Amino acid sequence: MEALENIVSRATADFSAAGDPASLENAKARYLGKSGELSGFRATLGSLSPEERRVAGAAFNAAKERIEAALEARRTALAGAKLSARLSEEALDVTLPGRGRGRGGVHPVLRTWQRIEEIWHSLGFEVADGPEIETDWYNFTALNNPENHPARSMQDTFYVDLKDKDGLPLVLRTHTSPMQVRYARMHKPPIKAIAPGRTYRVDSDATHSPMFHQVEGLWIDENISFADLKGVYTDFLRRFFENADLEVRFRPSFFPFTEPSAEIDMKFKHRWLEISGAGQVHPAVVRNFGLDPERHIGFAFGSGLERLTMLRHGIDDLRLFFDGDLRFLEQFA
Ligand code: DAH
Repeated sequence: MEALENIVSRATADFSAAGDPASLENAKARYLGKSGELSGFRATLGSLSPEERRVAGAAFNAAKERIEAALEARRTALAGAKLSARLSEEALDVTLPGRGRGRGGVHPVLRTWQRIEEIWHSLGFEVADGPEIETDWYNFTALNNPENHPARSMQDTFYVDLKDKDGLPLVLRTHTSPMQVRYARMHKPPIKAIAPGRTYRVDSDATHSPMFHQVEGLWIDENISFADLKGVYTDFLRRFFENADLEVRFRPSFFPFTEPSAEIDMKFKHRWLEISGAGQVHPAVVRNFGLDPERHIGFAFGSGLERLTMLRHGIDDLRLFFDGDLRFLEQFA
């Protein structure tokens, strides 16, 4: 029996010394394997008397169970150690603050654009969109601009090194007014539409930028008058500036594509500021819409989005919109 006790204690010690599953399995083979120590012991049982064999057999079984239990305990311990090693290796510090990403914001001019679409839409106007590279015909000719009008000059206008399919020059549109013609030729009256978008002129100082934004408005019907335009535009301005008492005036002006033409001014800090051009669409332009000026009457306006944004937020230099300075832009995010 001493021999058995000895095997059990050496097996237990060897198992504890095994630092990984492979050496543990090797140790197992030395004690529990076919030619291991326990099998060697069992072979000696044959030479015993039946009485001795019963006692020795029971001792053998008890020793085998203890060795198997020690083996199992070591297996569990090694697996546990492996798991905790992996856990500590892959440890995540959940208390570490996350890496934040700066959130972008909508540019103030684009905010005005969105706001304008909402307000005009609520006043019953559709929102239209058209090309920034425009034909000379839509940009000038169709809008009753005379051949020698200064706006057509190379100094005012970006001409594009391409021709349209009729070989006529293409320009970066100098205003959104060509959208009047495009829209009216594609829709039947009554027409109520706005067309916001980018426009381009060779111009650059504190109040002019080579790229800027306008919104065009067009209203065509049979029985409308200048009073309708006045009413709807005043309503728009009051909503845009969130000032129900905003004072608005229409002052006579000139545009080739309207007759009569007006400049729309609004009262701002006790001064009248020009905010838009407007007018009754010139009969020649109504004809270019494909409509009869004797039957259809049209009103149009064109306003600058930068100007509207500057007045709404008290911004005094147009260039701030295009410098990309976050200290400025973040104020609107
Ligand atoms: N297109 C003009 C400009 O850029 C603005 C304008 C004036 C538009 C009168 C209109 C209008 O529709 O009726 O200066």
